[in-house]
Amino acid sequence: MQLNPFAGTYLTDPAATWRELLDDSVGVHYADDLGMWVITKHEYVRRAFGDAGSFSNALTLAPVYEPCPEAMSLILKIDAPPTTAAADAPVHTRTRQALRATFANTAGRVEEQYGAIVRRRVDELVAGLLAQRGELVDLVPAFAAELPLLVVLDILGVPERDVVRIKGWADGQIALIWGQPDPAEQVRLAEGLLEFWRYCLRLVARREREGHRGDDYISRALRHRGGDDRVLTEAEVASIAFNLLVAGHETTAGLLAHGLHQGLSQPARWQAMADDPSTVPAFVEETLRFGPAIDGWLRLTRRDVTLGTVTIPAGQRCLLLVGAANRDAVVFSDPDRFDPHRTEGKDHLSFGYGPHFCIGAALARLEARVAFTRLAAAIPRLRLAPGYASLYKPNVAFRAHRALPAIIDIGSTVLEPHPLVSPPIAHAA
Ligand code: HEM
Repeated sequence: MQLNPFAGTYLTDPAATWRELLDDSVGVHYADDLGMWVITKHEYVRRAFGDAGSFSNALTLAPVYEPCPEAMSLILKIDAPPTTAAADAPVHTRTRQALRATFANTAGRVEEQYGAIVRRRVDELVAGLLAQRGELVDLVPAFAAELPLLVVLDILGVPERDVVRIKGWADGQIALIWGQPDPAEQVRLAEGLLEFWRYCLRLVARREREGHRGDDYISRALRHRGGDDRVLTEAEVASIAFNLLVAGHETTAGLLAHGLHQGLSQPARWQAMADDPSTVPAFVEETLRFGPAIDGWLRLTRRDVTLGTVTIPAGQRCLLLVGAANRDAVVFSDPDRFDPHRTEGKDHLSFGYGPHFCIGAALARLEARVAFTRLAAAIPRLRLAPGYASLYKPNVAFRAHRALPAIIDIGSTVLEPHPLVSPPIAHAA
């Protein structure tokens, strides 16, 4: 079969492709043009995520195409040791243990450690939107992409003056690894990625010199390391920071954009969240299922693996099509309907499954819940620009809206600070 994620309907309506692939019950196909096996059935995608003995993460963060030699030589200079989504056991077991100990990953710990940061950042951005009443605003840069970036920078203790650089590097990494840049662009993006890695090394070295007493994530990780390379090396701390800075915002940016799209394309849905915030968590969960921010993810077979009637040989790259798995009728009734009231919604695979299950799932859920609750309460009449049609960036993994133009309709009421919106704060560099 053929699957071109970089053109055609996949950029406007990927669900049409998912449906076609799911309709034939095999659930595993070889895509000649991608040179990868595409796995669609929920049962098989969950197995591939969970069965680390058969499916390796070694190439999960490696480009999906053969980079040009100049870009390759730059990529090879990025000597970040594998720690999270690129690591297999036993390194992954050790680094995952460090990650669990240092990064809040349950609803309670996330609320306690990051709740205030999330609320403050949401309030600042909502206040910024309120100040643009009556205007047409692109909600991707003004809200969806900005919030998770600011939150993750706060958590890592990265100076706000570096926001633009980090955003550029992180976007570049996603295009370089899972996109289809031409050779000149590959070189430019690879230069950026190398600079980004060196920035993370310097960040960690500075915290180390300063005595890592702070409350920021990097200081915590260095304290956990306690100078012992058997726990974590300093380069591994930098590598975790490198991963968190990308994984922590491009993903949640997608969740927020998909949620805004779903909520605003049917005004009654948005109004329901404004009227009754208790409906927001179920809305977030259905957004995760229906439009996963990562709708395809990679694995490498370690041995011959049989899924149903198909055997994938050892050493093959596989694309786990999370978007399709989340629409599998075996698990979800009427799967192509966005239904925030469904009971089986939590069975989605948007945060993966098994040993690499997303460490930031609780944080992403908190960000989305606070964001939709406060934005809907402050601007219940927010609406998409008339005639808006989705268009996504060409990418095999990250499903990102190119833009989300909306009108900040606050009606004729006099603009008073909304009770949910606190004044902007200065960021501690
Ligand atoms: C809607 C938001 C998010 C989505 C859809 C998402 C998705 C995923 C997925 C599918 C995986 C599994 C990777 C694998 O099996 O190879 C994963 C792992 C990971 N995620 Fe997320 N993620 C989100 C938010 C976050 C946030 C907010 C953070 C941190 C600030 C984060 C950090 C990570 C890390 C470090 C891993 C690797 C864990 C490991 O390999 O042990 N993610 N994420």
